[in-house]
Amino acid sequence: MSFAAVDVIRAKRDGGELSDPQIDWVVDAYTRGEVADEQMSALAMAILLNGMTSREIATWTAAMIASGERMDLSSVPRPTVDKHSTGGVGDKITLPLVPLVAACGAAVPQLSGRGLGHTGGTLDKLESIPGWRARLSGAEYRAQLADLGAVICAAGDTLAPADRKLYALRDVTGTVEAIPLIASSIMSKKIAEGASALVLDVKVGSGAFMKSLPDARSLAETMVRLGHDHGVRTVALLTDMSTPLGRTAGNALEVTESVEVLAGGGPADVVALTVELAREMLAAVGLSDVDPALALADGRAMDVWRRMIAAQGGDPSAPLPVAPEVEVVRAEADGVVSRLDAYAVGVAAWRLGAGRARKEDPVSASAGVVMLRKPGEAVRAGEPVLELHTESADRIAGALEALAGALDIASEAPAVLPLTMERIDA
Ligand code: URA
Repeated sequence: MSFAAVDVIRAKRDGGELSDPQIDWVVDAYTRGEVADEQMSALAMAILLNGMTSREIATWTAAMIASGERMDLSSVPRPTVDKHSTGGVGDKITLPLVPLVAACGAAVPQLSGRGLGHTGGTLDKLESIPGWRARLSGAEYRAQLADLGAVICAAGDTLAPADRKLYALRDVTGTVEAIPLIASSIMSKKIAEGASALVLDVKVGSGAFMKSLPDARSLAETMVRLGHDHGVRTVALLTDMSTPLGRTAGNALEVTESVEVLAGGGPADVVALTVELAREMLAAVGLSDVDPALALADGRAMDVWRRMIAAQGGDPSAPLPVAPEVEVVRAEADGVVSRLDAYAVGVAAWRLGAGRARKEDPVSASAGVVMLRKPGEAVRAGEPVLELHTESADRIAGALEALAGALDIASEAPAVLPLTMERIDA
């Protein structure tokens, strides 16, 4: 069935509901190039302004999945489960989590992306390991998954190609923030990836896509429903992103911190969230009797990490790149750190070279921010609070500007908020 694109745009512009054939046609015609970028831009803006019903979102997501291949992981001799985070500052959880869950008996087929803007990308982080490569053939991917139960690699061109095109368009037309479009974008890729279960980490706060709890809840509920509609057991945790996770933001810095977690140390918040997400993933595939905290403590997760890195050409023992320039930010008063804003730290890390403004930009492996003090920790005037790492000293001024007003020191410790705010199940 064929439609005039302008009629589909007008229907949504005027607050109407698109029919299933209209949605199937417009997604397919856009992927083939028959619907032009300017027409899809107008439709995306109409969706952002007027929303979509649950039925429209379900059909839109199915059409995006159908634009490419849905992977078949039935040959993998372990239950398959994946995790997706909506992205935050210092969010390196995927790195220790994937080998940890594999060490507990499940297989994690993690197709990941690169960072854009103030949030880092998992592939950028792993590429700071000498020799590691993100691209695997389909055969390599399946073999590694069957052998180790752990793969983190780049998504191929056949996974939801409609999303690849639409996401790039949304990025330059101010239409990223539409909940129906975010939910369908994330879930089309995750469902097409073929895992039988999925745990979503939906971030809430200044460093996240979703700044408010109601918006994050609405996104999480939409995604959980989409997963279940497509036969994927899906659970979401809403977790805090008002302050960065752990003590590092930046590619090699985050790999080092992840390895500390795999060695049984690391920051308490990163360890707690890694173990909590691992428990959810294992429970989703019937392995709730396995304790991931044990696999972290006894080195089994570290063994899988080292084999996973080596299987993709990386040297897990190689030293990571170190930034030649380090600027120290010192406390201006005695007291307790009461706030360290995630968004500001993300922008600072990005300006230091850790992130990219456009998809094709290179990233620095060594750049980023080290947080020597975090909310709740005491500090004396003049003591170091942050370190800014960069390859070029001329980036430091921009990072300091991003951090202006980002750190508060008070006389009393702030109230401790739970890292996980809500859990959303079907
Ligand atoms: N991540 C995605 O993959 N898609 C979005 O729309 C937003 C975040």
